[in-house]
Amino acid sequence: MKCRSPLVCWIVAAAVVAAAAPSGVFASRVPTPRDGVRPPLTATLIQGAAAAQAEANVLVVYYSQSGNTERLAEVVAEGAQRVDGVSVTLKAVADVTREDLVEADGLILGSPTYYANIAGPMKSFIDDWALRYGVYLGGKVGGAFATGGGDTGGKEHVVVSLLLAMMNNGMAVAGPTHEEAEVKFGYPGASALTPAPGSGFSDAETENARLLGERIARLVLRISTRVGG
Ligand SMILES: Cc1cc2nc3c(=O)[nH]c(=O)nc-3n(C[C@H](O)[C@H](O)[C@H](O)COP(=O)(O)O)c2cc1C
Repeated sequence: MKCRSPLVCWIVAAAVVAAAAPSGVFASRVPTPRDGVRPPLTATLIQGAAAAQAEANVLVVYYSQSGNTERLAEVVAEGAQRVDGVSVTLKAVADVTREDLVEADGLILGSPTYYANIAGPMKSFIDDWALRYGVYLGGKVGGAFATGGGDTGGKEHVVVSLLLAMMNNGMAVAGPTHEEAEVKFGYPGASALTPAPGSGFSDAETENARLLGERIARLVLRISTRVGG
C-alpha cells in the first residue's frame, strides 16, 4: 500500500486495525474526544463510603517487575489520598480497564527505567490507549514517576517521556512541586534510585513522590475539564 503522507498512512492503518479488531475490549473505531465524555459527576459516583465523598478520581498506574516501582507507586497514591474529595485507585498496568481510564480525572504513570527509557509493558499500555482501549484522555491531569538503578541512568528521561505521551494525548501535565514546598522547581516528576536490598527510598525521594500524588490530586479538583463539557 502506498500513502501520500505519513498521516494518511497512519489513518489508513488505524482504520484497518480497528476494523479487524473484535468487539468488546477492542474498540471498533478510532476514538474521538467524545469517547472521554461521561455523565454528570453526581450520576457516576461509585458505591462506598469513601467514594461517596469523592468529587474526582485519580488513577495511579505502574509497571514493576521487582517491586521498586510498585512501592513508589504506593507512596504516590498515599500522597493523592491526602487530598479530601479525591478517590484514588492504584493498579498494575496489566490490570487497568477501559473504564478505569474513562473514569480517571487524573492519571499518574510510573515505570522502571529500561535502557534509559520507558519499560516495554508501560509503553505498550500507552500505545494501546487509542486502538485497544479506545479512549481519548484530553482534559485529564497527568503526572509521572520512575525508578532506576543509576544516578544518571535515565529516570528523568522516563518521566519526561511519560509526560510527553500524555501531552500528545491532550492531557494537562504537572510535576510534583507543591505550593508550600521549599523548592518550587526542578522536578518534572518523582523518581527514586533502586534501593539496596532491605532498605527503602531516601526521605527526599519519598517526600517528592508524595508531593506528586498530592499535587495531581489538587490539580484534578481545580482544573479537571471533563472532556467535551
Ligand atoms: C532490562 C533492564 C534495563 C535497565 N536499564 C536501566 C537503565 O538504563 N538505567 C537505570 O538507571 N536502571 C536500569 N535498570 C534498573 C531498573 O530500572 C531498576 O532496578 C528499577 O528500580 C526496577 O524497577 P522494578 O523493581 O519496579 O521492576 C534496568 C533494569 C532492567 C531489568
